[in-house]
Amino acid sequence: MAVSNAAPIISTRFEGGDGRTLAGYESAGGYTALRKALAMSPDAVLNEVKAANLQGRGGAGFPAGAKWSFLPKDVFPRYFVVNGDESEPGTCKDRPLMEEDPHQLLEGLLISCYAVRAAQAFVYVRGEMALAQERLATALNEAYAAGYVGRDIMGTGWSIDVVLHWGAGAYIVGEETALIESLEGQRGMPRLKPPYFPAAKGLYLQPTVVNNVETLSNIPWIILNGGAAFADLGTEKAAGTRLFALSGHVRRPGVYEVEMGTTTFRDLVEAPVYGGGMRHGNQLKAFIPGGASAPWFYPEQLDLALDASVVGPAGSMLGSGAVVVMDDTTCAVRAAWRLVRFFAHESCGKCTPCREGGAWLEKILRRILDGHGREDDIELLLDVGDNISPGPFPRPPLDGEPGVPFPFKQTTICPLGPSTVSPIQSSILRFRDEYLVHIKEGGCHHG
Ligand SMILES: Cc1cc2nc3c(=O)[nH]c(=O)nc-3n(C[C@H](O)[C@H](O)[C@H](O)COP(=O)(O)O)c2cc1C
Ligand code: SF4
Repeated sequence: MAVSNAAPIISTRFEGGDGRTLAGYESAGGYTALRKALAMSPDAVLNEVKAANLQGRGGAGFPAGAKWSFLPKDVFPRYFVVNGDESEPGTCKDRPLMEEDPHQLLEGLLISCYAVRAAQAFVYVRGEMALAQERLATALNEAYAAGYVGRDIMGTGWSIDVVLHWGAGAYIVGEETALIESLEGQRGMPRLKPPYFPAAKGLYLQPTVVNNVETLSNIPWIILNGGAAFADLGTEKAAGTRLFALSGHVRRPGVYEVEMGTTTFRDLVEAPVYGGGMRHGNQLKAFIPGGASAPWFYPEQLDLALDASVVGPAGSMLGSGAVVVMDDTTCAVRAAWRLVRFFAHESCGKCTPCREGGAWLEKILRRILDGHGREDDIELLLDVGDNISPGPFPRPPLDGEPGVPFPFKQTTICPLGPSTVSPIQSSILRFRDEYLVHIKEGGCHHG
């Protein structure tokens, strides 16, 4: 088992330090990265972020520096949006960043706005996160009063305003174009891409960068220490450290900052400083490697590295960095239903396969759990799922193992539709026998 020696970058003030107040943050060197960045040219700041190879931490893993470079030249005004909507089951790593270290996020945002020459910044926080909202608002007021935000920042002549915006509690506004719709005052529904790629036609149809809270929280460290120092951590394809939200049937669930690429799922689950092993000494049954929408992994995938370029070809994704562990007392059908219920409920309703199909998938699973399953229900689940996320099931073997069709194909506007199908295919792939027991016997052996 390998436990990295890399010092944490973004979680240093989660326990013990004071990242909540300006005085506490400044005493730990806070806002010196902003001062340093403002003495550089915007392009030099951008080049540091490119050199860091910082992959986005919101789900898709797109490199931040490359994303910023996509903004069309000479089109202004541009906007910068922080995605703090974090709502996927199991994903809870942006929340401590906003609650415990709001100044770190604000400093990262300010530097990023400077690098892309943004005219205004917006921080969109999930509706239910009252504490994060309160602490961010307090921190922003302090930063304005200290001259880090607003007019003529630190006497450099550069100015920017930051607007805080609270969501109303919809998971789908985490999808960047739905978030932009919501910011504009519309109902939070995704836009079609193309043409509405945020870099080209984002907020108010102007070029816009949307970045995740964790992505931006890394920026002050990168500016202070240099992009190359960040890229030196982890591996070539998975640079830096990352927060993983480990939940489920481990002894020590929690949010852990680990070095990318060199750490494995087994390290995360078993190392005493992380998960500490399975609860009650139970056996691992399955785990979801990257948020509720990711195809499930099973015990034989425990030794894969925490690296998107490893997890992707193995048939799933690192996604939002949420690892959900299930032990052998878990009913796979019930676990799938619980996830499907969430996604069906959160469908925005814009496209028919997701709106209707998700609701039907939930109902079929519910009747199986209630002891009224029908003989052809497994095929029906797969058939309805195929209308949302088409592809041969199971997918032909990769590395000797068949899997669920991945990357998802979709008949829908956004990936929420396929997210409803993924837990069903993952559970049927490995635990079809549990479905049959439910259907034939009206219950299951898991209590
Ligand atoms: C259904 C759905 C929900 C999403 N929820 C979030 C979220 O809560 N937070 C987030 O940062 N990204 C979320 N994303 C990804 C965003 O669309 C976007 O890719 C991300 O904010 C970009 O930031 P990054 O490049 O820094 O990772 C979601 C995507 C989808 C399809
Ligand atoms: S896939 Fe679902 S959530 Fe996404 S746009 Fe269509 S209806 Fe809305």
